[in-house]
Amino acid sequence: MDTIICLIAVIIIPFTLLSGEGLKCLECEYCNRPGGVEPKICDAGEGGFCVSVNVRDKEKDKNGLPISDKKIEVISRRCKKREEGFLAQKPLFCEVGKQVLHEHNVFCCQEDLCNSRDPKLLPIPKAKEDVPKSKSFPTGTVVGIILAVLAIAAMAIVAFFIWSRRRRESLHEPVTDVSVDTNPLMGSQPSSLKELCEWSQSGSGSGLPLLVQRTIARQICLIEVIGKGRYGEVWRGHWRGENVAVKIFHSREERSWFREAEIYQTVMLRHENILGFIAADNKDNGTWTQLWLITDFYEKSSLFDYLNRTTVTVVGMIKLAHSSACGMAHLHIEILGAQGKPAIAHRDLKSKNILVKNDGTCCIADLGLAVRHDSRLDKVDILPTDRVGTKRYMAPELLDETLNMEHFESFKRADVYAFGLVLWEIARRCSIGGIFEEYQLPYHDMVPSDPSLEEMRRVACVEKQRPAIPNRWQNVEALRVIARVMKECWYANAAARLTALRIRKTLASLLEQEEVRRV
Ligand SMILES: *[C@@H]1O[C@H](CO)[C@@H](O)[C@H](O)[C@H]1NC(C)=O
Ligand SMILES: *[C@@H]1O[C@H](CO)[C@@H](O)[C@H](O)[C@H]1NC(C)=O
Repeated sequence: MDTIICLIAVIIIPFTLLSGEGLKCLECEYCNRPGGVEPKICDAGEGGFCVSVNVRDKEKDKNGLPISDKKIEVISRRCKKREEGFLAQKPLFCEVGKQVLHEHNVFCCQEDLCNSRDPKLLPIPKAKEDVPKSKSFPTGTVVGIILAVLAIAAMAIVAFFIWSRRRRESLHEPVTDVSVDTNPLMGSQPSSLKELCEWSQSGSGSGLPLLVQRTIARQICLIEVIGKGRYGEVWRGHWRGENVAVKIFHSREERSWFREAEIYQTVMLRHENILGFIAADNKDNGTWTQLWLITDFYEKSSLFDYLNRTTVTVVGMIKLAHSSACGMAHLHIEILGAQGKPAIAHRDLKSKNILVKNDGTCCIADLGLAVRHDSRLDKVDILPTDRVGTKRYMAPELLDETLNMEHFESFKRADVYAFGLVLWEIARRCSIGGIFEEYQLPYHDMVPSDPSLEEMRRVACVEKQRPAIPNRWQNVEALRVIARVMKECWYANAAARLTALRIRKTLASLLEQEEVRRV
């Protein structure tokens, strides 16, 4: 392998002594995948670095779909710009914890084409490794000083969180204390995310204590970018050999980061149809803040991508719809009591913000715009300052600005409208006898690709148009039911729309019915 790459490098080098002062590196994704990709040259710019990554991963075909459970070493090489290093002197993703060296390894360097080297992986450990406590902490005085500084910063942040929780406590049911001394990473050492999450649920139900979150965040190795948005980027990362998703916010998006972390840590929010939150962390070097939000990772990615890629069976369709409805209903419902949760409205429901899990059910993600209801004062916990969310999915009352922002119920109704559009996207992909509709976004035939508020208002409010229901849906019981539900979700009169609970119940009985039919 090495010799081939060296050969290629020798051939390519003459062509790259071209222009530019920036660092040149080899670039290839999955260089050793069957059918092999020849490395190209990329430009890491000034102060950038060359990276090669070795990941033990399932064997996959050219389209990235697993062909077996057998794991092989997969090499990727790429350029990293200086600004992608986060902490310029100490690029975060070049650091790999000892515990995961059998899962992945990273080699970073700063000479032209230096990343032809394949970082070595350790053999897969036989039994569960028992990492002694002392090993997870480096020694030495310099490190000691750094740790002390970090600890002070952490305490300041904890204090801030306690303060901000106190502030909320006056509004909500008793909120759990931020216990910093029951750190599971230092005590009985749960070794998996599942254990950690169970541990966190057994306590308050509102997530891990902040210092634990921080510890986890700092042990994560970033592997690859899997998504980009207006807020920043989403990465796939590793924590102790498990995949996690890391959403990294632009520093100007601090409010979104804070809000999303805050919503995720609402007491008792955890639910199988809501994206599992693991940790939030912010790192600051004085002038520049890096904001992380760490959640569960799902290979199939968003419902939008999933539907665009594949069709579904009748049961598959109902499972997607029903599980999404369960997620929305759990958000919307208020649970009373000490172990309760406030009602939450999502405010940005769409197929891109719903993830598909391996078992074909969905979970709702992206809670950055969500609002909570304080039922004691009958107030929305923050008053939205402007119309945000995705224009295509905005309910008519948002588009024409008649939504009563102080009435919490109206936000739930706007969610239900958006949910109706998602149902339409799902139903089109239900393949019966080989017949289905191609994947499209709602209103694809009525507005341009990035519609303005005005264009959406004309279509949804003035002309009162809604996505078309294909004739074939009338011939299939399940599609007929789903078509009726979506129509009742997108009534112009918000008060007439179904509630999330009603949708969940209707889809649950439809699912039961279809499953019985199949037996
Ligand atoms: C903080 O990080 C940014 C981005 O890496 C860098 O431009 C800036 O100089 C750093 N500031 C300090 C004080 O290290
Ligand atoms: C579906 O995916 C293809 C290929 O990635 C993309 O070109 C197309 O725009 C997607 N469809 C929609 C409606 O976005």
